[in-house]
Amino acid sequence: MITIEKIIRKKTKGKTLTKKEIDFFVNGYTKGEISDEVMTELLKAICAKGMKEGETIKLTTSMLNSGKRIDLSDIGICLDKHSSGGVSDSTTLILAPILASLGLKMVKMSGRSLGFTGGTIDKFETFSANTSLSLEEAKQIANKVGAVILCQTEDLVPADKKIYALRDRTNTVASLPLIASSIVSKKLASGAKVIVLDVKYGEGAFMDNLVEAKKLAKLMVKILRKNKVFACAVVSDMNQPLGNNIGNFMEVKEVISSLKEGKESRLLTLSKTIASLLVSMKENISLNLATKKVDASVSEGLAYEKLKEMVLAQGGNLDLFKKEKLEYISVNSETSGYIKSVKTKELGELTHELCRIKGCKGVSILKKVGDKIGLGEEIIRIYAPKKYFEMFYRKYLDCIEISKTKTNHLPLIYDILK
Ligand code: URA
Repeated sequence: MITIEKIIRKKTKGKTLTKKEIDFFVNGYTKGEISDEVMTELLKAICAKGMKEGETIKLTTSMLNSGKRIDLSDIGICLDKHSSGGVSDSTTLILAPILASLGLKMVKMSGRSLGFTGGTIDKFETFSANTSLSLEEAKQIANKVGAVILCQTEDLVPADKKIYALRDRTNTVASLPLIASSIVSKKLASGAKVIVLDVKYGEGAFMDNLVEAKKLAKLMVKILRKNKVFACAVVSDMNQPLGNNIGNFMEVKEVISSLKEGKESRLLTLSKTIASLLVSMKENISLNLATKKVDASVSEGLAYEKLKEMVLAQGGNLDLFKKEKLEYISVNSETSGYIKSVKTKELGELTHELCRIKGCKGVSILKKVGDKIGLGEEIIRIYAPKKYFEMFYRKYLDCIEISKTKTNHLPLIYDILK
């Protein structure tokens, strides 16, 4: 007879679990038949001993089967992307209108807040858009506009909902099989058939080891493909904020200007790369040709027009961002040299704290790693009333490390797993 105690003993010895054993603990914990304490013991054993690829696939399937799979087939083949989370990452809000402007479909389900990184939902709601849509409402919008952004339904992979919450409380998040099964089960349940994963590597991501980040990307692509989903992955940099702004309001402003002006930036380049990979897989065309289509969508202003349409369709308003003249505090460098490193996670956390204060909108980071900086030159702009100078000035300045010797610019993409 299978018991949870036997499963824990087996995993503690580093042995491979069977499908029946995996189903036993996934279902048992989801139904409340296994306690948090006992499940934590098992999660710790998995973190310590890992899981074979076959076990991870079985775990993903078991979690997927804990809830319903969304069927989007009536609106056609849908695209999706997933980011493992980073600071100033608003790629979804850029690539969704690009894809929709090319006649493709995206029903983007997202979580609300991802702590200091903010979630796509929070960012989209900055337009005053309604994201609490039923699946039927979302499908109608996707049919008309092409793309829609909505809050993840409560019953999407119930096993992951419970297990992930426990992992978060018990320091058992950092495990490749647990992360892969958690992310992929949700992606599979969401109904998209063409997916790009953006696995972040760096100080501001939860994967701070490049080899492990690549392994995770490869594993997730493999599981998605086994489930008949067209998938590929990028491993991208999170050793500095992706965009030039942090904080939902400022990030959304950057999304608008990226699509309106098409000025190249790391944020726009990564968004266009992910969009091109999706277009290439969906249309079965070369990446080169897909990139040309994506570039044209931005340079001809089609993606910007589509963003306006998307926001309007969900009851939002792009004009909110036009009028406001923002008060700001300039943070100036106390030395000259080159930007050596950026405390990305700390910048994210600090800005999360800042944006909780009424009237504070976020920050612009005016330099990237490898850029030259002069003595007294503005390095960060804090969009907050001047009275918050003492509270934040030094903390922000301390997030940027400057060296006298020349430093290199950081790569944006470390790997693409096609
Ligand atoms: N994001 C998820 O959805 N699951 C994980 O395990 C880690 C990040």
